[in-house]
Amino acid sequence: MILGSDRSPSRPAAIAYSPPWRPSLPLLLSSLSLLSLLYLLLSSRAPSPGGRFVTDAELSALVRAEVSRALVPHLSASSASNLAGVPSSPDHAALGFVVAQVPESERLRVLVTGGAGFVGSHLVDRLMVQGHEVIVLDNFFTGRKKNVAHWESHRNFQLISHDVVEPLMLEVDQIYHLACPASPPHYQYNPVKTIKTSTMGTINMLGLAKRVKARMLLTSTSEVYGDPQVHPQPETYWGNVNPIGPRACYDEGKRVAETMMYAYEKQSGVEVRVARIFNTFGPRMHPNDGRVVSNFIIQALQGKDITIYGQGEQTRSFQFVDDLVDGLMKLMNGGYSQPVNIGNPQEFTVKKFAEHIRELTKSTSKIKYLPATEDDPTQRRPDISVAKRELNWEPKVDVKEGLVKTIEYFQSVLDEGGEIVPTGQGAVKPKGYKAPSGR
Ligand SMILES: NC(=O)c1ccc[n+]([C@@H]2O[C@H](COP(=O)([O-])OP(=O)(O)OC[C@H]3O[C@@H](n4cnc5c(N)ncnc54)[C@H](O)[C@@H]3O)[C@@H](O)[C@H]2O)c1
Repeated sequence: MILGSDRSPSRPAAIAYSPPWRPSLPLLLSSLSLLSLLYLLLSSRAPSPGGRFVTDAELSALVRAEVSRALVPHLSASSASNLAGVPSSPDHAALGFVVAQVPESERLRVLVTGGAGFVGSHLVDRLMVQGHEVIVLDNFFTGRKKNVAHWESHRNFQLISHDVVEPLMLEVDQIYHLACPASPPHYQYNPVKTIKTSTMGTINMLGLAKRVKARMLLTSTSEVYGDPQVHPQPETYWGNVNPIGPRACYDEGKRVAETMMYAYEKQSGVEVRVARIFNTFGPRMHPNDGRVVSNFIIQALQGKDITIYGQGEQTRSFQFVDDLVDGLMKLMNGGYSQPVNIGNPQEFTVKKFAEHIRELTKSTSKIKYLPATEDDPTQRRPDISVAKRELNWEPKVDVKEGLVKTIEYFQSVLDEGGEIVPTGQGAVKPKGYKAPSGR
C-alpha cells in the first residue's frame, strides 16, 4: 500500500561521506574457500539432514546468504538467512546484499530517523533488502556512518546529516522515528538536548507525517514505566517515574513523545504506532554506551573486573536486535495503534547475567560491586501478551545465541581498535562525537 504518493521532485540530495567498506583480500579468499566447500558438499547431492536432496534453489539461496554474511561486517547469521529467500539485485550483488526488485508502484519511501545508530542500522538493512527506498536522517551524536556505509552506493539509499530538533521537508510514506540517544551516560550528557530531541524532534516528525500523510512509528521505551510497582509490566501500567531525577530527561521526554503521538492521531488523524522497547543488544552497539551488556562483555573479554552497580539483585530482560526489528516492522505494517511492549520476558538478575557472560567469554574476570546509581529500576520484564495477540510476535532468538554473536562483534571491535575503557554510569559524551559550536 502506498500512502501519500504525491512525491515532490525537490528531494534533498544524499550527503557524501567516508569511503565505503571494502572486503579485504584474506576475507575474500576465506569466503571463497568456504563457498567452494559448501558447493562441493551440496552439489554432491548428498541427502540433507532431513533425509531429502538439496534443490538448486536451496543451494543458490544458501550460497547467497553465505556471500552476504562474508561480505557485510556484523551481519548476523539470522539476518543473512533472512536475505536468502530474496531475489538477487544485480546492482548491489557486488556488495553481497540481495535486494528485492520491487515495482515502483509498490515500493515505499521510508524515513528512519536515528538510522545510523545501533537499532536503526539493523532496521535499515531489513528495509533495504525488502527493496524499499530508505532515507536515513541522523546527527551522528551516538550513531556512526560506518553502521550504514555498506548502503552508500545503492540507488535506494540516502543519508541526510540533520538534527530532528530542526524541521525538515521530505516526501515519505512511513517514518520510523528512532532519533534519541538510548544509553543513560549518553542521554544524561546533555539532558536539555535529550528533552529537545524527544519533544521538538517528535513534533517535527509528526508535523511531517501529518503533511505527507505518512504513518509514523515512535520507538518509546520501557523507561516510561520508571521503577515499576507492577511486575511484569503490561502496557496498561502508567508507571512510576521520578520527574526530576537524572533519568527524567529521557523517561519524561519519551512519555511526552507518546502523548504527542496520540494527540496528533486524535486531532489530525495521523496514523501512529508506539513501540515500548525493553533492553536490546547485538552487534553495532556503541562500545562506550555504558550499558550492562556492552560493559560486561568488554570487561570480560579484556579480563578486567566486571562492575555491577548495587548488589546485582535488580532484574533486567534482554532481547536480541533481530527480534526487535521483526517486532517494529510488524507493528508498523499492522493495524494496531496502541502502545506495544517489544522485549524478551526472560528475566535475569544483573549478577546472574554477569556470571553468564563471564562463562560464555571463558573469562577469569572478578565481579566488583560499586554503589547503586540513582533511580536505577529494581525490576524490568515485559508482559508481551499484546504483541503476541495483535502482532503475532514474540522473540525467537535465545539470549545465549544472541550473546554469542554480540561477543564475536565486540571481540572484532577490540581486535581492530585495541583496549576499550568501559564507560561508567555518570554522564559522558559519546566517543568520537564533536559537538558543533554553540551547543
Ligand atoms: N537499545 C535499547 O535497548 C533501547 C531500549 C528502549 C528504547 N530504545 C529506543 O530505540 C531508539 C534507538 O536506540 P539505539 O539503541 O539504537 O540508540 P543509538 O544511540 O544507537 O541510536 C540513536 C540514533 O539517533 C541519533 N540521534 C540522536 N539524537 C538525534 C537528533 N537530535 N537528531 C538526529 N539524530 C539523532 C543518534 O546519532 C543515533 O544514530 C531510541 O529512540 C531509543 O530510545 C532503545
